[in-house]
Amino acid sequence: MEGSPLILVSNRGPVGFIDDGEGGMRAVRSGGGLVTALTGLIDLVPALWISAAIEPGDFVVAEQAEGPFPVPSAGRDTTGRFVVMHPDVYERYYNVVANPMLWFIQHYLWDLSNVPDIRDEELLAWSDGYLEANGLFADAVVDALAANPDAVVMIHDYHLYTAPASVRERVPDAFLHFFVHIPWPQPDYWRVLPPHIRDAIIAGLLSCDVVAFHTQRYARNFLLSCEDLLGLEVDYAALTVRYRDRTVVVRHYPISIDADGFTEMATSEPVAAEEATFLRRRRRHLIARVDRTDLSKNILRGFTAFDVFLDRHPEFREDITFFAMLQPSRQDVPEYVEYVERITELVSRINTKHGNTDWMPIDLRFESNLPLAVTAYKHFDVMLVNSIFDGMNLVAKESMLVNERDGVLILSENVGAVEEIGAYSLVVNPFDVEAQAEALHQALTMPRAERRARGDATRQVINENDIARWLQAQVADIEQIRGRAVLPPEGGG
Ligand code: G6P
Repeated sequence: MEGSPLILVSNRGPVGFIDDGEGGMRAVRSGGGLVTALTGLIDLVPALWISAAIEPGDFVVAEQAEGPFPVPSAGRDTTGRFVVMHPDVYERYYNVVANPMLWFIQHYLWDLSNVPDIRDEELLAWSDGYLEANGLFADAVVDALAANPDAVVMIHDYHLYTAPASVRERVPDAFLHFFVHIPWPQPDYWRVLPPHIRDAIIAGLLSCDVVAFHTQRYARNFLLSCEDLLGLEVDYAALTVRYRDRTVVVRHYPISIDADGFTEMATSEPVAAEEATFLRRRRRHLIARVDRTDLSKNILRGFTAFDVFLDRHPEFREDITFFAMLQPSRQDVPEYVEYVERITELVSRINTKHGNTDWMPIDLRFESNLPLAVTAYKHFDVMLVNSIFDGMNLVAKESMLVNERDGVLILSENVGAVEEIGAYSLVVNPFDVEAQAEALHQALTMPRAERRARGDATRQVINENDIARWLQAQVADIEQIRGRAVLPPEGGG
């Protein structure tokens, strides 16, 4: 739509298109924390959302549309534009550089004595994959800015680090805002990458006016990286960096959920439909987790902790279920395929060891079913979020918000959400399996009054810091830095 005050840019867009079998295309909402959060944003502001064509139907839509196309059932007047690239370029950009290379660095997942090897394949994936894809995204942004020079450009996540440099070069006055949705590691960890790659990543981000993260820890790590790796002048108190005669502002805004919308959804018909069966099968105690099958989520150690817990506390046998809904993710990346296999094996080993014909300790579902996930959110006694490292983790917020059983959250100390709600959770070290087993026991035996007090305090934070607040804080900062309004007056647009 011409005149959108906002241009959003991310690898994955709000919907993907698939063939509906009747000669048309059906839009399917995308998964993952980024889309979940930005869906709250486009409900408030008309936006043009630029994303990569990923699903087969996306290419058809991209070809048929002349210019931006309307995005069905997403937000207020949201229009979309797909960036189409050659499959080989996408493969190198997404499956070699972004995931796993950058994702693994930013979540500290590489086993450095063995991997990664940076060889011709990786260097080519950088030059002819990542840089190329980012160039195509930059072209799309430059086009969109030509139609609407006043728009604010918000670029999201680790797939697009180098695009801003190319936009800045061609549109020097553009207002570029970048949000990194995943952790930013300490400077030395970036030394896994050769200097020309890591320098281009940081320089790309510094081509923006604002670089934003979820937490103070990541913002600080970014400033340290600018200083250590590029030798730049950094102001830790003001959270700014000087780069090429410009001052780049670094900020942290904890992303959140649409608290009212999510609460409403928890009482909706599709959730009620799942609840009936779910509750019929329920044992006395319920542990739950809901995640993409991502290595950063620490799914194996979570199950091992449950195994240890069952060894130590046989009194819980047959009285407890660990419900795990895991959405298969990034199955083009070999490490992710292997992870799903390891999860399956471990769960079957634990179920065989402890279970019997009448009781299956772990109820494992490889599926993405939001109504069923929300049902589990409402009825867990313990929610396990034990990620190795995790940018924010919205499951922690969603699940605690709608839980109806005074359930307790076990939260890894390396999850962004710990800055806001760690004080009311049982915080664990994600590598300490014994501590996680102990936390399961502590949560399951905690007096109701204490569970309720922790839950209430958590809900208060989530209700106060919801997605609207996340957005308002960023808009207020953009307006102050840019010196003019971003959004049309109420009722406009
Ligand atoms: C995380 C990332 C997002 C990504 C999502 C799903 O939330 O921060 O950028 O879209 O995971 O991953 P995928 O690779 O399927 O887009």
